[in-house]
Amino acid sequence: MERQLFQAARKARARAHAPYSGFRVGAAILADDGSIHVGCNVENVAYPEGICAETAAIAAMLAAGRRRIREILVVGSGRAVTTPCGGCRQRIREFAGDATVIHVCGPRGVAASFTVDELLPHAFGPDMSGRRR
Ligand code: THU
Repeated sequence: MERQLFQAARKARARAHAPYSGFRVGAAILADDGSIHVGCNVENVAYPEGICAETAAIAAMLAAGRRRIREILVVGSGRAVTTPCGGCRQRIREFAGDATVIHVCGPRGVAASFTVDELLPHAFGPDMSGRRR
């Protein structure tokens, strides 16, 4: 399954719009029903308006009618491993549990796997907002 997610994320990465940073990112989500949803980063000439690949993948999952992340994988550019930014960690948490796995990749595939709790410890989660979901 990891391989399948990696291939899907790489394919999405190829479609990124990243002319400003030159750093393409792809993300693939395995949803609770086994479906896969992908996203890429989409930058903008007004720099802060760009969105990350993980955010795009979450939007694609929601638009497809799924609301729960079983696993998510991220692949950036170059040799270094890309981990989700702080904002994306919080967005992932919205649709995942503390134990949900986040795979981070180098050029050849998964380099490390973390739980949401490891990347966003003591998270402010939807259960804390006092609202019913
Ligand atoms: N980026 C992502 O899409 N996901 C990450 O996990 C890290 C950063 C994007 C944002 C921006 O378009 C580019 O990578 C450089 O930071």
